[in-house]
Amino acid sequence: MLIKNICCIGAGYVGGPTMAVIAKNNPNINVTIVDINAERIAAWNDTNLDNLPIYEPGLADIVKETRGKNLFFSTNIDKAIDESEMIFISVNTPTKTYGKGKGMAADLKYIELCARNIADVATTDKIVVEKSTLPVRTAEAIKSILHNTGNGINFSILSNPEFLAEGTAISDLLQPDRVLIGGESTDAINSLSKIYEAWVPKSQILTTNLWSSELSKLTANAFLAQRVSSINAISELCEHTGANVNEVAKAIGMDSRIGPKFLNASIGFGGSCFQKDILNLVYIARSYNLTEVADYWEQVIIMNDHQKRRFSDRLIKTLYNTVSGKKIAMLGWAFKKDTNDTRESAAIYVADHLLNEQANIAVYDPKVPYVKMQSDLNYLNTRTEEDNAQGLKASKTPYEALEGAHAIAIMTEWDEFKTYDWKKVYESMKKPAFVFDGRNILDEKEMKSIGFDYFAIGR
Ligand code: NAD
Ligand code: UDX
Repeated sequence: MLIKNICCIGAGYVGGPTMAVIAKNNPNINVTIVDINAERIAAWNDTNLDNLPIYEPGLADIVKETRGKNLFFSTNIDKAIDESEMIFISVNTPTKTYGKGKGMAADLKYIELCARNIADVATTDKIVVEKSTLPVRTAEAIKSILHNTGNGINFSILSNPEFLAEGTAISDLLQPDRVLIGGESTDAINSLSKIYEAWVPKSQILTTNLWSSELSKLTANAFLAQRVSSINAISELCEHTGANVNEVAKAIGMDSRIGPKFLNASIGFGGSCFQKDILNLVYIARSYNLTEVADYWEQVIIMNDHQKRRFSDRLIKTLYNTVSGKKIAMLGWAFKKDTNDTRESAAIYVADHLLNEQANIAVYDPKVPYVKMQSDLNYLNTRTEEDNAQGLKASKTPYEALEGAHAIAIMTEWDEFKTYDWKKVYESMKKPAFVFDGRNILDEKEMKSIGFDYFAIGR
């Protein structure tokens, strides 16, 4: 099928950057990103590129280059569906918060709404591409909805999971390790492959059956998260034995079978994907009565929760077993550097734990606004909104957050944290001045020579 118009349902962290890169590399194809969230669409259309709803290095430049030429943002979902030959579904698939599978299964209500919307509106043949991360065999449900419209339209379903990581989304999209396309129709697969071939070498475009493609996405995230939990498990052992987790990571990473990436010990992984996708994998395994498989992967989450908890426990214990009334400065709220995304950020859980102990928290994050921090805390429902607002304040500058603090907790590995005048910070703090480096980003020798009591994960 010749593709002239693409519609993407879902203008989020995946839909926005992915479609911007497709539009940039396919100037002859019109790409329209639609969303039910009018505020988000308005932000994507804002003339001031600083107001785009998503912060990703390099994204604003591509939006500037393509927006209004062949990249469009709209709330008119029906029109965009009807006019397009290819429709990407890129809506959120969060963990269910109700009913069967609550807390484990992926909530597919948004996916189903999209499928029904397409079925209702379409008047010509369509290729429907699953871009969202979905449980294996979801395409079956989408197919069933689309094929039962009775209006004689031909729908081809493809699975094309997205592997970008936030913070590096644009470079990941421009130079992907691979593009994965799962499907049954060769014609549909070729149509989608051609779009990627505009900038991705054909040898890196992998085609599989639908179910392998769907399951590969969950598996990739499970393996990546497992590496983080593995090194975090070792970090605790390091703290008890005098081994240094950075040295251990370097030593094992030089084994080419292991490789050096994704071995940074941390306060625990966050983000919208790892936990949700592993819980989903565990749920699927349990639904087939595969208890050992489910238990095996669930341990990755158990370890991650433990890591978040033990970070705050160590801080409290070191501060003479009480943080009540003490000012704790938190550097970073985003779940990793170079993003404004805070979903499942370890900082939220550490802050919650410290607030339970009546700490006064001052947070500085270069990209996350205060209202977001408050809504993240309020979502946990641990205490009243007033108490959250009382216990946690955001500072406009890092020095304001750090001044008079008893301890610093480094939650996100923002590069700018390494450039601070740490001597000045030390002088402005209560003594002894403690630093808990949850990301291993500061120089231990230098911090200790300034006078800090410095504790890093895995050391
Ligand atoms: P997101 O929440 O940022 O964006 C999803 C958007 O879909 C929202 O703006 C929402 O308003 C919109 N939406 C929901 N239902 C809709 C409907 N019926 N019609 C129109 N719009 C609708 O989510 P995201 O982070 O972009 O993730 C999307 C999918 O991609 C998820 O399945 C996720 O697992 C997967 N994924 C995410 C990442 C990542 O780094 N965030 C990476 C790879 C894959
Ligand atoms: C992840 C996958 O990497 C990506 O392929 C998928 O498409 C979406 O989910 P993302 O969550 O955006 O991407 O970021 P990622 O770089 O994977 O980091 C996830 C979390 O793990 C972050 O909190 C990060 O700080 C943490 N992490 C990562 C570590 O703690 N140590 C590491 O060595 C690597």
